Amino acid sequence: MTQSNNVDAFGGNAVVVGGARGIGLAAVGLAAGRLDAMTVLDLPEEAPDVATAFPDATYRQADVVDRASLEKGFGVAAERGPVTSVFVPAGVTLPVPLLEVDSEQAERCLTINVVGAVNTIQAAAPHLAPGASIVLCASVAAYTGGGYIGGPVYGASKAAVISLAKGAARELAPRQVRVNTVAPGCTTTGMLGEDPEVHTMLADRALVGRLARPEEIAEAVVYLWSPASSFMTGAVLDVNGGIRL
Ligand SMILES: NC(=O)c1ccc[n+]([C@@H]2O[C@H](COP(=O)([O-])OP(=O)(O)OC[C@H]3O[C@@H](n4cnc5c(N)ncnc54)[C@H](O)[C@@H]3O)[C@@H](O)[C@H]2O)c1
Repeated sequence: MTQSNNVDAFGGNAVVVGGARGIGLAAVGLAAGRLDAMTVLDLPEEAPDVATAFPDATYRQADVVDRASLEKGFGVAAERGPVTSVFVPAGVTLPVPLLEVDSEQAERCLTINVVGAVNTIQAAAPHLAPGASIVLCASVAAYTGGGYIGGPVYGASKAAVISLAKGAARELAPRQVRVNTVAPGCTTTGMLGEDPEVHTMLADRALVGRLARPEEIAEAVVYLWSPASSFMTGAVLDVNGGIRL
């Protein structure tokens, strides 16, 4: 995992929910050397890549739809002190047109992406340090009604995440907790798949002419965690290579 020097070490106790792979795992890797402690929660029983990315990290199985598993996970994290930094990349795509999607598929996507973020914020709340920073994960699809790798329901779920973060920012401000959203463009992870034709089509739609590496999204997360972003709350950081322009 590459490390960057853009944000200095700032310490703290982080939790990444959905950090076993992809953008979440990249954030775990970039946090190594900058934060003191890391707990990663995700669906698989084991996540060997987490220890490679952040050797001292704790990994626990949790499902964002299952509040009790999240509460347990945040409890484990809090054994290492108050939680200062949270990132919630846990999510699923739904590349199905609106007129073809069935209500079970729609409910699953909205439940994981939106209710999952609600559950995570609520499970984190009792353990947050004053000055803590929470980063939710939206998508360029939030602004466009899907249309890239997710359909309209996915886009709607990500628009909801942006709104949720703004509301959370307002509610948690009296506790000196900041809440922001990162909105990635098309990024080379398992979610994007490996079809080269799709990669080329999506890369051509970005002004920078390529897809993002997960680390390029993770840089924004580490920035939003760090004191360098101390005046940002309720904001959305678009990291999309100019794909909407
Ligand atoms: N890859 C992209 O092009 C792209 C673009 C825009 C936004 N995003 C968003 O970025 C975030 C991370 O996606 P990624 O690209 O790294 O995909 P990914 O599929 O590689 O990672 C998603 C992670 O979320 C976890 N997860 C899924 N459901 C969960 C649940 N119920 N409980 C706990 N964890 C769960 C998965 O196990 C996985 O580790 C997602 O929210 C996604 O919507 C991705």
